Amino acid sequence: MEHAATPSWAMLAYLASGVLFILALRGLSSPASSRAGNRYGMIGMLIAVVTTLVTHQIAALPEILAAIAIGGGIGWVIARKIAMTDMPQLVAAFHSLVGLAAVLVGWAAYLNPEAFGILGADGLINPVSRVEAGLGIAIGAITFSGSVIAFLKLAGKMSGAPILLPARHVINLGALLAILGLIGYFTLDQQVWVIATITVLSFIIGFLLIIPIGGADMPVVVSMLNSYSGWAAAAMGFTLHNTAMIITGALVGSSGAILSYIMCKAMNRSFISVIAGGFGADASAGGGEAREQRPWKRGSAEDAAYMLGEAEKVIIIPGYGMAVSQAQHALREMADLLKAKGVEVKYAIHPVAGRMPGHMNVLLAEAQVPYDEVFELEDINSEFATADVAFIIGANDVVNPAAKTDKSSPIYGMPVFDVDKAKQVFFIKRSMGGVGYAGVDNDVFYMDQTLMLLADAKKMVEDINKGLAH
Ligand code: TAP
Repeated sequence: MEHAATPSWAMLAYLASGVLFILALRGLSSPASSRAGNRYGMIGMLIAVVTTLVTHQIAALPEILAAIAIGGGIGWVIARKIAMTDMPQLVAAFHSLVGLAAVLVGWAAYLNPEAFGILGADGLINPVSRVEAGLGIAIGAITFSGSVIAFLKLAGKMSGAPILLPARHVINLGALLAILGLIGYFTLDQQVWVIATITVLSFIIGFLLIIPIGGADMPVVVSMLNSYSGWAAAAMGFTLHNTAMIITGALVGSSGAILSYIMCKAMNRSFISVIAGGFGADASAGGGEAREQRPWKRGSAEDAAYMLGEAEKVIIIPGYGMAVSQAQHALREMADLLKAKGVEVKYAIHPVAGRMPGHMNVLLAEAQVPYDEVFELEDINSEFATADVAFIIGANDVVNPAAKTDKSSPIYGMPVFDVDKAKQVFFIKRSMGGVGYAGVDNDVFYMDQTLMLLADAKKMVEDINKGLAH
């Protein structure tokens, strides 16, 4: 690869692709503009790739085209086949590749510094470039092994339960400090053992950081790894002297960090407690055995169909269970039947409903629910007081009033939907024993106006639809 100064037209092209990436992020912030956002991102990437190919002598064109065809082909097949519910593990798998790429670029720069234009006058690699390569390798390796564990846990190929090693905080902190120390030492001594030790330690630390984190916290971890992969790419950008890569890496790094923060805030968990791991141990041990015996009422699909048909305003609250049972299409059909009867139907989406950001929005969009019927927590919460029915389908924690009243509850402080203000509440879940992600009992089950509809969500909604169609 050649390292002449980047021509000014190329700098402008990189700037244009940077602006397009920012527009892409902006577009992706709302379902209505997300398609346009995706397109901006694709155009930005095309400009960046073509500019880099034209300004650098990287490899023969046929080689590059063959690599694009193979990689693009694999991506195309995966995108066609992947089920929406498998998205989180796919994202984790993709991040692992970004991490690995950063490690390989760092090593390539180390082994062939002349081609990367990072040799100093003394014939050794510039100290600054050594730090860049060291950081790129370290962040990349941590991202790689961390993402592999996240993938295995999310795909159910490894137990989602947290694996807690004794003294893990001390081990992790010690290893992280050792890596930083070695990167510092690398500026003085560029022997291969230094960079090899950085690489191996970083692979190990990525593994150790993620195994103590419970399956349910994985979405935060995926977004955190997304952020790391961005910083790894930015570090690669410095090593490769590629402005577009630095911009893109910084955008991915910071947006991933902001997303992790928003998710933690919406779950009322501190970022540190997620990273420190261990949460989810109680929930996965099958909480709820201390459940009080309190009276509750069971409803049937016929009851629900009748009352829904008589209502003026229905607010639907979807949650993780809707995703599990893939009930979104039946749900849209139910809304259509109700609207045909003159009932006003709205959907209320909690920021952490489901198991990944935008989980519910994606599923509802897949079922072609109109965007103007979908509302966020703060925009709809005051409307429960005027709703005849709150229809909870596979949601649990996001409607749990303990978040407002019980200081000892793990979800205390999380904003929740005020479903108790609705005249009638329907609560779809499979059994009274099943708990939500936080593993806690829910007062909504026992309210006077609540009817429990115990069944698989899709089956229940299909039965309600039969009743409504009559
Ligand atoms: P959860 O509180 O997890 O409750 C899911 C409910 O769905 C349970 O009541 C479960 O009861 C029911 N369910 C499961 N499968 C079902 C099926 N096939 N048919 C019908 N019901 C089914 O869900 P939520 O209200 O969406 O809350 C999300 C939770 O995940 C929050 O605590 C949040 O903090 C956490 N979290 C979210 C994210 C993101 S970014 N969304 C990330 C990490 C953690 P049964 O087992 O009895 O059916």
